[in-house]
Amino acid sequence: MSDLNHIDLKAVPEHIAIIMDGNGRWAKSKGEDRLYGHSKGVDAVRETLKAAADLKVKYLTLYAFSTENWNRPKEEVEGLMNLLVMSLANELEELNENGVRLQAIGNIIGLPSSCQQSLSEAIEQTKDNTGITLVLALNYSSKWEIEQMVKRISSKVQQGEVSQEKIDQDLISSELTTHGIPDPELLIRTSGEHRVSNFLLWQIAYTEFYFLDMFWPDFGKKELHDAIYDYQNRERRFGLVSEQIKNV
Ligand code: IPE
Ligand code: IPE
Ligand code: MG
Repeated sequence: MSDLNHIDLKAVPEHIAIIMDGNGRWAKSKGEDRLYGHSKGVDAVRETLKAAADLKVKYLTLYAFSTENWNRPKEEVEGLMNLLVMSLANELEELNENGVRLQAIGNIIGLPSSCQQSLSEAIEQTKDNTGITLVLALNYSSKWEIEQMVKRISSKVQQGEVSQEKIDQDLISSELTTHGIPDPELLIRTSGEHRVSNFLLWQIAYTEFYFLDMFWPDFGKKELHDAIYDYQNRERRFGLVSEQIKNV
């Protein structure tokens, strides 16, 4: 029974990450094909982005396509890539009108060239916007990202640019595709699955998880508000005891 009136506007998470899951099952339940579910998922993205921006969330990271998703049937993968290109073209004007800055994380050079082109144009054309940053995780896998980080740091050590003693958590974070983005305080996953599916493993060390059974196309403003309200009623202890948190 939460709504906007219950949310503490001064304690809204700076960064919310979402595993947008359940498009296929949503479509199946309506007797439609999976791609119809994905296109309805874009509507849910639009509504959720607006609701997050209205609450002054600074970063919204959406898991849109995982490295593992390449193994889906060819028609679905192609459909998703086309949907990405079309959505970027359709939404660009509105992103700019609303001051949204677009970024992407993941193995972007592994995407088809049409996607890379639309993405880099949209990133370039929104780069000076000062509202919410929408981070699309595309061809993203956390283990891939960690592997790349290890390669980059070891090569810097080999070149003598970094000494082994200087390898610390900040250096590791700075070599991930999320560099410069604060860790999410809240991670939401729709569709009833209670797993992380190779998403932001390093970055969610102290993130609060919020799972809901609803499929992604049905997610929107009310559900985002409910998730934030739930988050605000938790005690984040970071290893301390409750009394220590209350004394801060
Ligand atoms: C999430 O919905 C979107 C992507 C992974 C691209 P799914 O396509 O995974 O939908 P379900 O989980 O099969 O219902
Ligand atoms: C996670 O959903 C990836 C995205 C939402 C893009 P999946 O549907 O691919 O995850 P699994 O396979 O159920 O773990
Ligand atoms: Mg799924």
